[in-house]
Amino acid sequence: MENKNIKIAFFDAKPYDIKSFDLENKAFNYKIEYFNYRLNKETAITAKGYEIVCAFVNDIISEEVINILYENGTKLLALRCAGFNNLDFKATLNKIHVVRVPDYSPYAIAEHAAALMLSLNRKVHKAYYRTRDNNFNIDGFLGFDMHAKTAGIIGTGKIGKVLIKILKGFGMEVLAYDAFQNIEAEKELGFKYVDLDTLYKNSDIISLHCPLNKDTYHLINAESINKMKDNVMIINTSRGQIIDTKALIEGLKNKKVGNAGLDVYEEENDYFFEDFSATVLEDDTLARLLSFTNVLVTSHQAFFTKEALHNIAETTLLNIKEYIEGKQLTNEICYKCNMLGSDCRRTKGLNCF
Ligand code: NAI
Repeated sequence: MENKNIKIAFFDAKPYDIKSFDLENKAFNYKIEYFNYRLNKETAITAKGYEIVCAFVNDIISEEVINILYENGTKLLALRCAGFNNLDFKATLNKIHVVRVPDYSPYAIAEHAAALMLSLNRKVHKAYYRTRDNNFNIDGFLGFDMHAKTAGIIGTGKIGKVLIKILKGFGMEVLAYDAFQNIEAEKELGFKYVDLDTLYKNSDIISLHCPLNKDTYHLINAESINKMKDNVMIINTSRGQIIDTKALIEGLKNKKVGNAGLDVYEEENDYFFEDFSATVLEDDTLARLLSFTNVLVTSHQAFFTKEALHNIAETTLLNIKEYIEGKQLTNEICYKCNMLGSDCRRTKGLNCF
């Protein structure tokens, strides 16, 4: 197939996406049409005639969207992200192949999680404003040594493991929980698998690195928060819906939760990645979260490093190349075992065929 004949509909394109994909595409020469709006049931029709569609984390890829894409000629959905909880995967079966970028930089996300921990602990975000106002008072900025404290990591996959290494570097004790334990990593990195209740009870900082699925939806809720140490710090760079935000707000109000670092938020689709600085925030829950000075919200930027953007563009275009050349799709989400996410043995590296 002539590369120039391959048309890719690229949804939710931001200037940095266009820059990194255009650079990488020099080696592939595909015709990429960048749409600055998201993929959803209203916009899906604009992919008519595009065999390949490229989408991102906050595109809403429902059954209706998949059917519109399928009926209008799309055969490959290339997700330029790792998570795929925004996709009705079952609806794609026997219709559209779905590929993703499973591993573009676990360092980017783990390092951002560490940045949130350090900033919250040492109040860097508050000190920035104080010193800019010529106020050099340090009252209220008292932190704690992370050394010898306990971190609880939920999800010991690619990102969780990198974060464990970083935290071990600080001299922290690390407890971990995973639905599928990696005993080799436990030995090699020197952490300890425990059940969730033990992790909640003993951790000073809890960081989430599991995917969003039926088991992890609202994993952090009123009941689990109640089991945690007083003044616990909760970090979420995974997916917003793993935390019941209303329960987190209650925990912050009654001081059970000492700090929260959130790169993701349950209802982020309506806000994250966009500029609302000239308008009134209509989401009262998000507004309440932002009112706490011990909460640090970043807008899904944990992935946002030069290296990650390069790897995302390269892997996405290689995924597309494999499809065009009729090869086995290395990063296809498994449909043979008919399972989703972490339940799928293929995405866990085991061959389910
Ligand atoms: P991974 O697939 O390498 O690791 C996920 C781990 O979670 C696996 O070890 C898996 O066994 C475990 N797991 C699955 N179900 C679980 C459960 N019910 N309870 C506990 N553990 C469970 O994934 P990776 O690359 O480490 O990414 C983790 C998550 O980080 C992704 O699912 C995604 O939601 C999020 N992410 C966020 C980004 C951001 O910019 N904020 C960027 C990339 C990923």
